[in-house]
Amino acid sequence: MKTYQLHAATGSSDILIGESFEKLQEYTAGKRIVMLTDDQIYALHGEAFPDVPVIRIPRGEQAKSLGRAALLYQELIRLGANRSDMLVAVGGGVICDLGGFVATTFQRGMDLSFVPTTLLAQVDAAIGGKNGINLGEYKNMVGTFRQPSFVMIDPAFLKTLPEDEFVSGLAEIVKYGLISDPGILTLIEGKTPREISGDQDLLAELIGRSVRVKVAVVSQDEEDRGLRRILNFGHTYGHGIERLYELPHGKAVAYGMVVAVDISIQLGLAEDRLGKRIFTLLKNLGLLPHIKPDRDKVMELISHDKKKKGEEIPFVLLKDAGKTVIRPLSPDEIMDLLENIKLFTI
Ligand code: GLY
Repeated sequence: MKTYQLHAATGSSDILIGESFEKLQEYTAGKRIVMLTDDQIYALHGEAFPDVPVIRIPRGEQAKSLGRAALLYQELIRLGANRSDMLVAVGGGVICDLGGFVATTFQRGMDLSFVPTTLLAQVDAAIGGKNGINLGEYKNMVGTFRQPSFVMIDPAFLKTLPEDEFVSGLAEIVKYGLISDPGILTLIEGKTPREISGDQDLLAELIGRSVRVKVAVVSQDEEDRGLRRILNFGHTYGHGIERLYELPHGKAVAYGMVVAVDISIQLGLAEDRLGKRIFTLLKNLGLLPHIKPDRDKVMELISHDKKKKGEEIPFVLLKDAGKTVIRPLSPDEIMDLLENIKLFTI
């Protein structure tokens, strides 16, 4: 077991990598706890939950709503919970985001911890202190910043994770390699997702190194005013095609990372060989969807996402593996660069 500590203005977290869910109550500081999870996680792992109140909700992104949050507040009141208690959210990104939002707003904030159950949540959604829900079509429009007391990463949950969800998490791990720790790329190159999921030591190393990158970035810029933007690498474009083609998050981000590397090469920031390396790595992981995105529609979504029609959009680009640079690009420049993307044809 390895622990990383994240210290930020809104609190400090212990991130426990490789700790068993069975030991949960050793970390809850004697507090009364209420658990939040989804039906699917509870069906698979219910017997491992401690004997405390468990709120179960249907799985799916639609749970990240004000309506669902209101139902959870009512359930917490019914259970007699108060701000000295701890909400422990057990699940993927939706459960962490929603649970974090509800815990940090109920009675102006009760204690909060996460047990992320997907690879994506273990390396991303559970770490960083951003909690939030969607407002209609606007993602994460309402939320809070607050670090959870602890994040317990138990690799046992990954054994029941469908392969495509595992692969989706790998995209985020590759991202950490590209923006900060190229050693991650070397560890993954030439391996299939099955080889990675079957090698517990490798998996622990990849999760640990990814968490280390996120912790380092968030500790320096919790409120997303500068450095933290590098975590959006591949996401500006990725979010656009994720919605347009209903792609899994990992595949959309993988595609977005290739686009960002291609743009980096076109602007003379990075060398061709970086593009070939990244394209090959992501393709071998099965992360590159066969799509031909509609440039105008993607651009419309990117501008809409940034809520700044016509204005420059800060694009996270690379000089090399591990070396980022943020360039504001106008929509016209982006349109021209997208017209000349070549990496998908190599
Ligand atoms: N909750 C995810 C993050 O803060 O990035």
